[in-house]
Amino acid sequence: MKASFFLLFLLSFYSSLHEISTTDVITKNQYITDGETIVSSGGTFEMGFFSPTGSSKRYVGIWYKQILPMQTLVWVANREKPLTNTSSIVLKVTRPGILALLNDKKDIIWSTNTSRSVRYPVALLLDSGNLVVKDANETNPEKFIWQSFNVPTDTFLPYMKLGKNFKTGQEVYLSAWKNDSDPTPGELTLHIDPTGYPQTLVKRGTRVVVSSGPWNGLRFSGDRTPPPNQSSIYKVQFVFNKEEVSYSYYFINNLVLPRLVLSSNGYLQGLMWVDQTKSWLYVRSPPTACDAYNLCGAYGSCDVDHSPVCTCLEKFVAKYPQQWEKGDWSNGCVRRKPFDCNKEHAFLKYSEIKLPDTKYSQYNTTMTLDGCRDVCSRNCSCTAYSTLNISSGKGCLFWFGVLIDITKMPGGQDIYIRMAASELEKLVVVSETGSNQKTAKILAVSLSLMALILLGLVLLLYKWKKNKLKLKEEFELPLFQLSTITRATNNFSDNNKIGEGGFGPVYKGVLEEGQEIAVKRLSRTSTQGLDEFKNEVIYIAKLQHRNLVRLLGCCIQGEEKMLIYEFMPNKSLDSYIFDQTNSKLLDWPKRFDIIKGIARGLLYLHQDSRLRIIHRDLKASNILLDIEMNPKISDFGLARSVAGNEMGANTSHVVGTHGYMAPEYAVEGTFSVKSDVFSFGVLVLEIVSCKRNRTVLDQDQNLNLLGHAWKLYKEDRSLELIDYEQLADSGHISQVLRSIQVGLLCVQQCPEDRPNMSSVIMMLGNDLGSILPEAKEPGFFPQREVLDAENSASQNEVTITMLNPR
Ligand SMILES: *[C@@H]1O[C@H](CO)[C@@H](O)[C@H](O)[C@H]1NC(C)=O
Ligand SMILES: *[C@@H]1O[C@H](CO)[C@@H](O)[C@H](O)[C@H]1NC(C)=O
Ligand SMILES: *[C@@H]1O[C@H](CO)[C@@H](O)[C@H](O)[C@H]1NC(C)=O
Ligand SMILES: *[C@@H]1O[C@H](CO)[C@@H](O)[C@H](O)[C@H]1NC(C)=O
Ligand SMILES: *[C@@H]1O[C@H](CO)[C@@H](O)[C@H](O)[C@H]1NC(C)=O
Ligand SMILES: *[C@@H]1O[C@H](CO)[C@@H](O)[C@H](O)[C@H]1NC(C)=O
Ligand SMILES: *[C@@H]1O[C@H](CO)[C@@H](O)[C@H](O)[C@H]1NC(C)=O
Ligand SMILES: *[C@@H]1O[C@H](CO)[C@@H](O)[C@H](O)[C@H]1NC(C)=O
Repeated sequence: MKASFFLLFLLSFYSSLHEISTTDVITKNQYITDGETIVSSGGTFEMGFFSPTGSSKRYVGIWYKQILPMQTLVWVANREKPLTNTSSIVLKVTRPGILALLNDKKDIIWSTNTSRSVRYPVALLLDSGNLVVKDANETNPEKFIWQSFNVPTDTFLPYMKLGKNFKTGQEVYLSAWKNDSDPTPGELTLHIDPTGYPQTLVKRGTRVVVSSGPWNGLRFSGDRTPPPNQSSIYKVQFVFNKEEVSYSYYFINNLVLPRLVLSSNGYLQGLMWVDQTKSWLYVRSPPTACDAYNLCGAYGSCDVDHSPVCTCLEKFVAKYPQQWEKGDWSNGCVRRKPFDCNKEHAFLKYSEIKLPDTKYSQYNTTMTLDGCRDVCSRNCSCTAYSTLNISSGKGCLFWFGVLIDITKMPGGQDIYIRMAASELEKLVVVSETGSNQKTAKILAVSLSLMALILLGLVLLLYKWKKNKLKLKEEFELPLFQLSTITRATNNFSDNNKIGEGGFGPVYKGVLEEGQEIAVKRLSRTSTQGLDEFKNEVIYIAKLQHRNLVRLLGCCIQGEEKMLIYEFMPNKSLDSYIFDQTNSKLLDWPKRFDIIKGIARGLLYLHQDSRLRIIHRDLKASNILLDIEMNPKISDFGLARSVAGNEMGANTSHVVGTHGYMAPEYAVEGTFSVKSDVFSFGVLVLEIVSCKRNRTVLDQDQNLNLLGHAWKLYKEDRSLELIDYEQLADSGHISQVLRSIQVGLLCVQQCPEDRPNMSSVIMMLGNDLGSILPEAKEPGFFPQREVLDAENSASQNEVTITMLNPR
């Protein structure tokens, strides 16, 4: 009893020296030293000295008081002036009205800034997390001489206003930490930029890296997180007038702890504290490849669900088609028909668009859409217009010059782009003079022309169909004569035989024009082969993608049934990665390209083609390599399509290859796009490690590649999976680690946990959002089957068909 009373006395004596331990204010005679903190009045925030994880340097900062043990910083004072020895450092308020870090010689190491001098300055930590310096005698609770909300670091808290004051010129913007252990301002900053019309820009130095698109009355045009509505628990406020542009948000109840953070990789993360799980929940849509500013160049449109992501807007063509095909989109697109200011023009409507960069734009808040069109059409340098405020449906935004940074986005907006009138279809026509009569005439003429053309097309089609129907029934494919193929393959000589496919031998051939082909010939004895043959024709004939092998045609004559493909000189992927000598030919950048190529091909199958196609037999030997080592997915003999909105189906006839089959498919016969994702994950790990999944890599625990990779991953030793010699450059380490993690995410036990292919592509290709989810345990094969596969390792890898006893 006595002892604790004494302790209490001591404590109160100690705190009376600078009276700090339980207050939210630092007054003139007080100071805090390292180890002491002040707490905001509501108890939400705490301020004091700290060291970031992984650093021994000391900083003064503000963090959430309740969220411990992990210290979540929201503001850092001396981010550019770290301290190494704080033993004589104090934080105090001093004349003329600044909060400063002082050493024992009273040198100012860091301080707030003010243009005003006050008599009784105090520093106060408000419960919003705002640290303010004010005059103790000031009665207006909102009048500060300095506030940390005006000089934020990387965190955008509720009630903070980002933007610019046009009168004082003061700008409030976010600036990311250099990295997680170094709060020094990195190169990345986030601004509300009012040039043209306000949009959010993330910049690296002076270069724009991400743009949100303009404010549209509800949200920034490119924001994929739905805007708040009546029932939302948060509100956003956007102000744009002669005095300021500002953006802020707040929550209606104070029960949640939200924050927006500009991460050190340039992505604005939205987080919310969940007390039950004691963790931060990510609440904003994750970044996508299309977030990269101006990725597709002028008039190029980015679509994450498309591969490649860039396409030219309708009625536009690539400026340099060859570059464009190679994936160099920087030069963008141009109008298919150039328009001439002196000729008639029209505006074509494009929907579901994240509006282009507004740097060169002008606006008017009162006009309506018809007025916008008239104004835009009067000035030939006006290329496009749209509604300014979609909430009120009023106002115009006008673009001058080329349009850049366009993204195709569900829930996006309409924009009207100027075209030569000859491009008109269902669009708004504007004649040079504005005369209605003329407009009507153009419409009438073009309509009747169109009708004529249509009629002609229908007739042609009918004739063509009639001729073709007999021969090709279900295949709309070029037919080759048997004699042509026999000549090309030297009468199917053994020398020309290059392999054995799912349903028969494959021959190399050369057509008379010199084109090299691969011919898959259905063996006459095969019965099951016929189904696979048909299957392959049905699917691959309808598909076209640079990462799918291209079918040139077929040959059906008498008993002979053959498929003719483009020839792939570099054979299949397995002949490289599983071969000690050949694997040296594929350095990491090449392998990473191959991984990304396969991913794009698979995305196309799963999502982009009209049919949703599940390949069901993705494996290294079904990936062919062209002359430039671009991967092409082949062998659609087992592929199935499911209806557009279905994700999968069930079968009692399980087909596929051991080592690549997802557990739910092998065991229950449930196949879906996610079972292909599983096979893709296995393939990724095989490409990284140059080992077959079915080889036992860990003798002690009898682990196959998945088990081994998982074990290394859990122990933070993932890099051991790749042979160090294969890493051409240590700069690729993060790509390797990312690939391994993506591979592991794809082979997770539970299909719902596996990402879909568009996420996979995003995770592989995107340096912006490098925070990948943690992988859970992979779906292993039952041990027995691993052993079975091992026993048959001497055989060639073959696609197996097994009937499930159900
Ligand atoms: C820290 O500074 C104090 C006073 O300035 C000094 O006495 C002490 O030796 C320093 N400690 C270290 C580790 O440099
Ligand atoms: C302090 O503020 C003045 C004007 O208010 C400005 O010119 C000066 O650069 C500021 N100093 C610092 C260190 O921010
Ligand atoms: C101003 O504030 C100081 C410090 O809190 C206090 O001592 C003084 O009485 C106040 N003066 C007036 C006029 O309120
Ligand atoms: C953070 O950056 C500093 C240099 O600014 C560097 O020394 C440190 O290693 C980096 N830390 C991490 C975890 O990347
Ligand atoms: C409000 O927004 C949420 C989420 O965006 C949505 O689920 C809900 O239906 C909306 N409510 C109304 C009334 O529009
Ligand atoms: C907007 O358009 C209206 C009607 O054409 C015009 O009266 C007004 O001056 C315009 N405002 C601006 C800022 O240009
Ligand atoms: C067209 O608009 C541009 C950009 O606002 C302006 O510089 C130019 O003078 C305008 N031209 C005409 C003919 O009004
Ligand atoms: C957009 O329209 C809404 C509803 O009419 C209005 O409240 C809001 O202030 C407008 N926003 C801007 C930026 O003009």
